[in-house]
Amino acid sequence: MNIEAKKTELMSTFHFRHATKEFDLTRKITNEDFEFILEAGRLSPSSGGNEPWKFLVVQTPEFRKELAPHVTGAVRSLPTASHFVIILARKGLTFDSPYVVEQQTKVKKMPVHVYNSMRDAYAQFYGDLKLDTERALLDWSSKQTYLAMGNMMTAAAHINIDSCPIEGFDLDAVNELLEKKGLLGNNEFGLSVMVAFGYRSKEPVRAKTRRPMQQLVQFV
Ligand SMILES: Cc1cc2nc3c(=O)[nH]c(=O)nc-3n(C[C@H](O)[C@H](O)[C@H](O)COP(=O)(O)O)c2cc1C
Repeated sequence: MNIEAKKTELMSTFHFRHATKEFDLTRKITNEDFEFILEAGRLSPSSGGNEPWKFLVVQTPEFRKELAPHVTGAVRSLPTASHFVIILARKGLTFDSPYVVEQQTKVKKMPVHVYNSMRDAYAQFYGDLKLDTERALLDWSSKQTYLAMGNMMTAAAHINIDSCPIEGFDLDAVNELLEKKGLLGNNEFGLSVMVAFGYRSKEPVRAKTRRPMQQLVQFV
């Protein structure tokens, strides 16, 4: 495929994607297609390559019913979505936390002596970025999860699957529910964001609106 055709195809994917409020209950995403979407999340970039996310796929109607009162941004999408994903962010990713050390030395295969030689540089990075409180560290992980969510939504749209990102939830209530179900590990994760996938039940009512480029971009 030549570059112009690639550009046209990708742009049509971006135009296809819209925040789908309600999905067609009769259409389910195949396992193969959902794996494609998950793979786009898995391959997403993250700061330091730490992959600070976990994707909980909520498929049982019972669990969705328990979530519903706390997820007011998904009144119609939660019960109708083919697949509903809660994205968790990893907590406490200091550079000497066991997870980060494992990620860097085992998953990313950085030799341990190289990792240790970079401790001062990591300390400087964390200081410069003000990653100095539990909340700041969780926010930092959460930011990365939004990249994965964006890629998953684009991947879905690319194969004509709809989606809706969801921040309309009660953070404390959902964290409490997840904790009660033992889904936050040993205090390793916190709720970041949610995303529903499926097939639209009807075409969007409004055409896409965006500010003009010149209001958003400044070459300096
Ligand atoms: C992080 C994030 C959270 C959002 N939360 C919700 C939500 O809780 N419920 C909802 O219906 N739409 C939600 N949206 C959808 C936005 O309202 C929508 O993306 C925006 O109005 C632009 O429209 P479009 O996505 O159709 O282009 C969210 C979008 C983002 C990116």
